[in-house]
Amino acid sequence: MAKPNTGHQSWWSGQSRRKKVLLLLTILIIILGLALGLGLGLTIGREGGEEEEEQPPTTIPPGTNGTTWQPAVNSTWQIALLHPLDLSDGVESLRPDVGIYDIDLFTNPPSTIQALHRAGKRVICYFSAGSYEDFRPDSSQFKKDDLGKELDGWPGERWLNLRSETVWKIIEARMRMAREKGCDAVDPDNVDGYQNDNGVSLTQADSERFMLRLSSLASNLSMSIGLKNAADLIPSLISRTQFSVNEQCVQFSECSSFSPYISAGKPVFHIEYPHNAPQIASNDTFCRDSGQGEGSELFSTVLKDMDLDGYVQFCNGQTANTTLSL
Ligand SMILES: *[C@@H]1O[C@H](CO)[C@@H](O)[C@H](O)[C@H]1NC(C)=O
Ligand SMILES: *[C@@H]1O[C@H](CO)[C@@H](O)[C@H](O)[C@H]1NC(C)=O
Ligand SMILES: *[C@@H]1O[C@H](CO)[C@@H](O)[C@H](O)[C@H]1NC(C)=O
Ligand SMILES: *[C@@H]1O[C@H](CO)[C@@H](O)[C@H](O)[C@H]1NC(C)=O
Ligand SMILES: *[C@@H]1O[C@H](CO)[C@@H](O)[C@H](O)[C@H]1NC(C)=O
Repeated sequence: MAKPNTGHQSWWSGQSRRKKVLLLLTILIIILGLALGLGLGLTIGREGGEEEEEQPPTTIPPGTNGTTWQPAVNSTWQIALLHPLDLSDGVESLRPDVGIYDIDLFTNPPSTIQALHRAGKRVICYFSAGSYEDFRPDSSQFKKDDLGKELDGWPGERWLNLRSETVWKIIEARMRMAREKGCDAVDPDNVDGYQNDNGVSLTQADSERFMLRLSSLASNLSMSIGLKNAADLIPSLISRTQFSVNEQCVQFSECSSFSPYISAGKPVFHIEYPHNAPQIASNDTFCRDSGQGEGSELFSTVLKDMDLDGYVQFCNGQTANTTLSL
């Protein structure tokens, strides 16, 4: 049985050929337009993403207050952190008689820094920028979430999340304290958490960005700043820092990594801990082996005890015990 013809034509077959062509063209243009817009959107989105991933941390401009103290290569120095310097017998009685003292920012009063300045000395103020120490007067300001794992061998001291603005504010305040106390330079320690099991997912880029920011601030505050260890950061930080402070490059056979500072006319303040490395034959070896890379015989080398007390031995054999007050 044939399907009954209802006698109705469809809407489409009722249209003229010209109208059909126009309609199809319109639909085609709309589809093309949508596809183009979508494609463009996708491309822009992807480019935006790539830009974000590839954004170098070096976008932090240098500080603006240019003239900071540039210490000379091969300068004599002493680092004594365990206790504040004891100047009760006058700066003249301090042994060893060096040009530069690296001392604790918190425990030394402004009068010590002023007295050292009057005697023609320069002062580098040490503080930890990348670790939490529970005994510091500002330690209650850190948030629990910003504290990572303990530092190997330093119970109670924990890595800090260097991406945190809370951490930055506290460290910024420490930098301002250094300026107010009259420090010529700062020695911010523990900026190499990315090389350790830190518990706060620190990357090298985090450290780089943090140090660039610190160096910008140091310059704004008219202070010099050193890069502590962290050899990977030297390419991006060497032009933004005035010296290197290195621990144990002989023990870890990496002194040549730090000699670019010497080539750039900037000193390397170098510390070895002979008591911590009994496998190394003698104190002479520490001194001789610091000269294993281009210019590294000009490192300012001191042999110290691990707790950075007053005792120091220099590579010319001179030993001294700087007075520290308890
Ligand atoms: C730059 O440093 C000088 C000397 O320390 C200081 O007097 C001045 O206020 C600083 N300027 C700025 C903009 O920080
Ligand atoms: C480096 O310093 C030491 C100790 O002050 C000095 O004896 C030596 O001559 C200096 N070397 C150079 C090349 O300036
Ligand atoms: C240093 O000063 C400049 C100019 O005022 C400013 O743009 C920059 O943010 C400052 N750096 C830091 C780390 O505060
Ligand atoms: C080696 O240097 C250390 C200081 O770090 C000192 O305590 C020790 O007595 C020195 N040893 C010799 C044999 O001079
Ligand atoms: C350095 O001086 C301190 C305080 O007088 C003393 O306890 C320590 O034994 C001395 N260290 C050396 C290696 O002479």
